[in-house]
Amino acid sequence: MTQGDVALDGPVIRTAHIVLPSHANAMGTVFGGVVMGWMDICAAIAAQRYAGTEAVTASVDDLHFLRPLKVGDTVSLEACVTAVGRTSMEVRVEVNRVPIDRNLPVERTTEAYFTFVAMGPDHRPTKVEPLSRKDKEGATPAEERRARRLERRKKR
Ligand SMILES: CC(C)(COP(=O)(O)OP(=O)(O)OC[C@H]1O[C@@H](n2cnc3c(N)ncnc32)[C@H](O)[C@@H]1OP(=O)(O)O)[C@@H](O)C(=O)NCCC(=O)NCCS
Repeated sequence: MTQGDVALDGPVIRTAHIVLPSHANAMGTVFGGVVMGWMDICAAIAAQRYAGTEAVTASVDDLHFLRPLKVGDTVSLEACVTAVGRTSMEVRVEVNRVPIDRNLPVERTTEAYFTFVAMGPDHRPTKVEPLSRKDKEGATPAEERRARRLERRKKR
């Protein structure tokens, strides 16, 4: 899993779904909130596996619904920790439509960055391991994303 110059670390977590009628609106396309829920769970597994602790969602940014998903579509999700602070982890999540016909291309439908915070047994934020040296080399864009995120948090 690669996205531009985003460095990836930790395990890549993959989950999959089929869009059911109960996921869809009157046009037969999936509700955004359903996809966000799938993304949150996939990202949570990646964050918790990285941290080795429980983790909670702190924020979501750069969420883009690029293409609709329809009833019957097969959907695959990938999530991976892309940056780490002291107690927080940035997790990139990508959602793709996987055609049943193997000759057709896989298409990106949704993407986002989730921020998770590792929680200790006292239910307070707890420290996570830093990324490896190799991954830090590509981390400048991640640092910019973190700075933007924290700036927005400060303004709230
Ligand atoms: C997220 C939460 C644990 C942060 O707690 P807090 O007491 O504000 O903790 P801190 O200020 O020490 O922040 C902890 C880390 O979270 C980061 N953080 C907190 N809010 C953030 C936000 N909105 N966006 C990005 N990062 C955020 C901080 O930058 C810090 O990161 P760092 O340790 O890597 O530098 C707390 O706000 C919370 O419990 N929120 C509800 C979470 C929840 O219920 N999620 C949905 C269901 S899982």
